[in-house]
Amino acid sequence: DDLIAEGHVAGKRVFVRADLNVPLDGERITDDGRIRAAVPTITKLAEAGAKVIVASHLGRPKGEPDPKFSLAPVAARLGELLGADRQVAFAADTVGDSARTTVEKLGDGQVALLENLRFNAGETSKDDTERGAFADRLAALADIYVGDGFGAVHRKHASVYDLPARLPHAAGGLIATEVGVLKKLTEDVARPYAVVLGGSKVSDKLGVIDHLLEKADRILVGGGMLFTFLKAQGYEVGASLLQEDQIPVVKEYLERAKAKGVEFVLPVDVIGDTAFPDLKTKAPASPVTAAVDAIPADVLGLDIGPESRKLFAAKLADAATVFWNGPMGVFEHPDFAEGTRAVAQALIDSPAFTVVGGGDSAAAVRILGFDENAFGHISTGGGASLEYLEGKTLPGLAALEG
Ligand code: 3PG
Repeated sequence: DDLIAEGHVAGKRVFVRADLNVPLDGERITDDGRIRAAVPTITKLAEAGAKVIVASHLGRPKGEPDPKFSLAPVAARLGELLGADRQVAFAADTVGDSARTTVEKLGDGQVALLENLRFNAGETSKDDTERGAFADRLAALADIYVGDGFGAVHRKHASVYDLPARLPHAAGGLIATEVGVLKKLTEDVARPYAVVLGGSKVSDKLGVIDHLLEKADRILVGGGMLFTFLKAQGYEVGASLLQEDQIPVVKEYLERAKAKGVEFVLPVDVIGDTAFPDLKTKAPASPVTAAVDAIPADVLGLDIGPESRKLFAAKLADAATVFWNGPMGVFEHPDFAEGTRAVAQALIDSPAFTVVGGGDSAAAVRILGFDENAFGHISTGGGASLEYLEGKTLPGLAALEG
């Protein structure tokens, strides 16, 4: 933190690796939570007289410029959030002529945003030399590195992992806050500790479930992944999303949970439809509610049902700690949003220390209109917070400590 103190950064070019990877609908930002979370560190540095160079990835372009993934809309929103007296100069590339001239023109206390880091193959390359070469070009733009993109610290990418080794470096305030909160979920956690997991793929959550079987008291399962759990218990899931190959692992987890006294809470009913809803038009769907032992063959499950909402709320009401990652259903469509809404409300109503982790669930609570301040903490990290809870070494945090 000393490094970001006023005396050190005044007049210096400070590279801030943020995570401004926000959901977009065309050029419209549907949730600006990550941009707002990046503002305090940027403002602090600018007020201290730094020339602030902000960089981020957006989406998963293929290592070359792709207008669909331009950070231009993010630059505009960041400018609005920084306030009337601070403009954001947007560079049309990351390490090219535009970036160089934009940085050269920066005065003390001014802010620039570089174009999407992933427009360069070196950013995400698995080859150390290729990543290193790109990191060298980034390093040439700046004097000091501040790592503040918590959502990306689990990526071994040039701007996250290789660049800090090339410049004096420090963690920004967002990373410090996020790590502080997640520590509370791994050390001396207040019990009962309940974890709500959702999202579509069970394969994304296996690592964290494996770890939580040693830590949590209750694991509530919703989202698309719940159907693999139901199938593992012998239910027919109709046309629902299913990861057949994961069934043996899920079975093993269910058995281990039983042996350890960890309670798995699965939905007792689901809401589904015979087709996936249109998320663009949000045209009314034809939702049907079914008990989990009576899901019609042509129905795909899209949310947890009303009885499950009550069950989940009851299982969260007396928890002392709750971590929630992943929506319960297709919350983007109003016919399938009630499960996610109910879990958000249960977290708000519970006296527990509550953490919402995950790009999607964090966006969901805001898109559904909940007050962010009603939760203990809303993390900007999806994969990053899960991997932290798994106890993995996160490249972006390790690099800042080195
Ligand atoms: C995220 O949204 O989880 C982070 O921004 C990382 O994005 P990625 O999964 O595309 O690396």
